[in-house]
Amino acid sequence: MKTMTRERMQTQTLTDHGLGIEIRGVDLGSDLPASVAQALRDLWHEHAVLVVREQRLDPAAFLRAAQIFGDILPQQLGKFSLPDYPLVGTISSRDLPTRDGKLHVRGENYHTDHSNFREPPMGTMLHAIELPSRGGDTQFVDVRLAYDELPEAMKARIATLRSTHVYESSRSPRKMAVLSPQERAEAAASSQPIVIVHPVSGRAALYLNTGRMEGIEGLPDDEAYALINALYQHATQPCYEYRHRWQPGDFVLWDNRSVMHQANADFDPQEFRYLYRLMLKGAPLRGLA
Ligand SMILES: [Fe+2]
Repeated sequence: MKTMTRERMQTQTLTDHGLGIEIRGVDLGSDLPASVAQALRDLWHEHAVLVVREQRLDPAAFLRAAQIFGDILPQQLGKFSLPDYPLVGTISSRDLPTRDGKLHVRGENYHTDHSNFREPPMGTMLHAIELPSRGGDTQFVDVRLAYDELPEAMKARIATLRSTHVYESSRSPRKMAVLSPQERAEAAASSQPIVIVHPVSGRAALYLNTGRMEGIEGLPDDEAYALINALYQHATQPCYEYRHRWQPGDFVLWDNRSVMHQANADFDPQEFRYLYRLMLKGAPLRGLA
């Protein structure tokens, strides 16, 4: 088995504002020395989106690679898992419905994954197996920087606010996947801070998900949704963005406590797009107070 020294790892930041880091010269399917694994975790925590190029991971290797970063969260929607590897989910263009001749993907509109869980997954990772010739980018915005650049008065206003996140908000801009009755009964609702603090870096970040936030606790709905929309508009500006254009073999891991992400349905429905997907277990989110 090929071993990897830290010296062979090449890194390149992907934006001027520090969101995203590209890594080459690492084989995540090999036995990585502890120092390389630690370097990868450190880069992930700092840059929030880790892009490791030119990987060739089968499901078992993808599972092992995920464990460099944390413990694996079982899939919520069993119908999208690999039969032989139920911990590995898939994103396939063949599972997608079309509406009016246009593909409908899961994950449009910026969001953070499973924010209705009491312990939302700390990270989500994808590995590109087959890609369309164009389109299907994944966009990320840095909600740490977006928080840092809020006016001080706004920071004070939102410092201790909380929102109840449900499976699908009554004002969700997107339709969530249909759950079985049992999945529906098990779908959690959780109170989350609007501003969270990262457990490793200590950085504050906005924690928003317009698909799942059912208002803001203690505020009338009109005021709550106006505030959510104002924060969402602020956080999704292009100045906070990294747009990932997929290449075959890409392994991408993002930090759900530091970014929001969104999918794009702008590829040819006749072409095949297929990725493996895993999420990492998280912990209850901590607010500023
Ligand atoms: Fe997502």
